[in-house]
Amino acid sequence: MVSRVRTVSFQGISAVPVDVQVMVAPGKIGMQIVGLPDKAVAESRERVQAALHASGLSLPPKKVTVNLAPADLPKEGSHFDLPIALGLMAALGAVPADALAGYVVLGELSLDGTIAPVAGILPAAIAANAEGKGLICPADCGSEAAWASADLDILAPRSLIAMANHFRGNQVLSRPEPAMRKAAEPFPDLADIKGQESARRALEVAAAGAHNLLMSGPPGSGKSMLAARLPSILPPLSPPELLEVSMIHSVAGLLSGGELSDRRPYRAPHHSASMAAMVGGGFRARPGEVSLAHNGVLFLDEFAEFTPQVLDSLRQPLESAESVIARANHHVSYPANIQLVAAMNPCRCGRAGEPGHVCARGRRCQADYQARISGPLLDRIDLRITVPAVTATDLIRPGASESSDAVAARVAMARERQKDRYMRLGLPAIVANAHCPTAVIEEVATPDAAGAALLQSAAEQMKFSARGYHRILKVARTLADLDGADRIGRLHLAEAISYRVVGDGMAIAA
Ligand SMILES: Nc1ncnc2c1ncn2[C@@H]1O[C@H](COP(=O)(O)OP(=O)(O)OP(=O)(O)O)[C@@H](O)[C@H]1O
Ligand SMILES: [Mg+2]
Repeated sequence: MVSRVRTVSFQGISAVPVDVQVMVAPGKIGMQIVGLPDKAVAESRERVQAALHASGLSLPPKKVTVNLAPADLPKEGSHFDLPIALGLMAALGAVPADALAGYVVLGELSLDGTIAPVAGILPAAIAANAEGKGLICPADCGSEAAWASADLDILAPRSLIAMANHFRGNQVLSRPEPAMRKAAEPFPDLADIKGQESARRALEVAAAGAHNLLMSGPPGSGKSMLAARLPSILPPLSPPELLEVSMIHSVAGLLSGGELSDRRPYRAPHHSASMAAMVGGGFRARPGEVSLAHNGVLFLDEFAEFTPQVLDSLRQPLESAESVIARANHHVSYPANIQLVAAMNPCRCGRAGEPGHVCARGRRCQADYQARISGPLLDRIDLRITVPAVTATDLIRPGASESSDAVAARVAMARERQKDRYMRLGLPAIVANAHCPTAVIEEVATPDAAGAALLQSAAEQMKFSARGYHRILKVARTLADLDGADRIGRLHLAEAISYRVVGDGMAIAA
């Protein structure tokens, strides 16, 4: 007799249905798993046999064949243990076979028969719900699964024995509740930053329109400090964004205790990060930092210290908002809609551009250092600012600077205007100007006559790329949104252009 249990295989964040077929038949004693299993799946055999034995169920002296269908789909991960074990239990009559028909099953087994948490429960639960099925998952993942839908049937047993007892009606499992992560400690506040008015303004504009930002300045000028305060002025995730972000974190196995958080992701990988760590790949094609920062911020401190290949691997995700990982026989893609924030020194000694300072290596010091950032990457950064060394007068000036709450309120208002606008245009997926399609930006960011004249003369003199031109319009749109203005004026454009010219010296060096 063949018993069947439904599970899934992950392709990026989508859960593809997989049928686990278990047959117990006379023949050579042993258990075999077929259907393109990877190493972790092949090892299931040992875990399943030990867990069944520990639960008081021994395999009959027969031939057990487990087939994972469709056979041509690669199966990766350890979540196949539980469906295989339940399939076997159904084949042996330890659980009723028809009871399993309405469920998608995921879970890893320990040798003692307890069920250990696995990654990817949230996308699996959403897929199960879409098919009208229930979900059987590890107890520790129950609260994560409960986010998929309020009426999804979820069984989250601690062990194989608890599962069998539930089906026998001895000890019925209750439905887990969704859990929200308690607000962790508050973010650092902008009030700590003295002076640096223009850098604070750029940070506010970046937050308001989700624009990419590059800060360049001497050591100790407060670049890392400014970036660390960006999360405190960003709006929280909206429910659809929260779900998308959590799906990626779920597949990466980063949702501890199944709790979700509405804080925007803020990822700050070290500059020694490899390409696989940055854009994804490696073992099981895990999502990289660009995907873990989806709908949030990717902060690259010491930007020029990253290897040029790693930096250039960001070009594609920055343009298409997704990261595609090519494998030998298939490819996997993860969403990667990020706001890139970067900080760097202008040269290796860090003080180029300071009045009166001459680098020991002359002009090459600055040129060589900045050439590590390629022109096309720089072209994708809308706001480039110089953060000058903070003056002693600023540091000893009494009184606190404006707090994050006040700035966050302005950012929230500007974001609201953007959301309304794109909703009216029938583009509900777009929530910030930085993500506006180019065809639409020309429509929603038409400058007034004086603005148009300025833009034309600036474009002629500075020779913007086509991308640069559209990005200036996007930034100008955000500046007008912060002002609560419908039309884009000359001042908005002048400010937007000024953010772009800072890095032009760098682009030439590149
Ligand atoms: N505007 C400021 N207001 C108050 N303190 C500041 C300011 N700027 C810098 N500091 C102080 O200087 C320290 C160093 O700042 P930070 O690490 O942000 O510099 P950085 O620009 O990132 O330098 P590096 O280029 O070396 O990374 C901060 O921890 C803070 O104590
Ligand atoms: Mg720093």
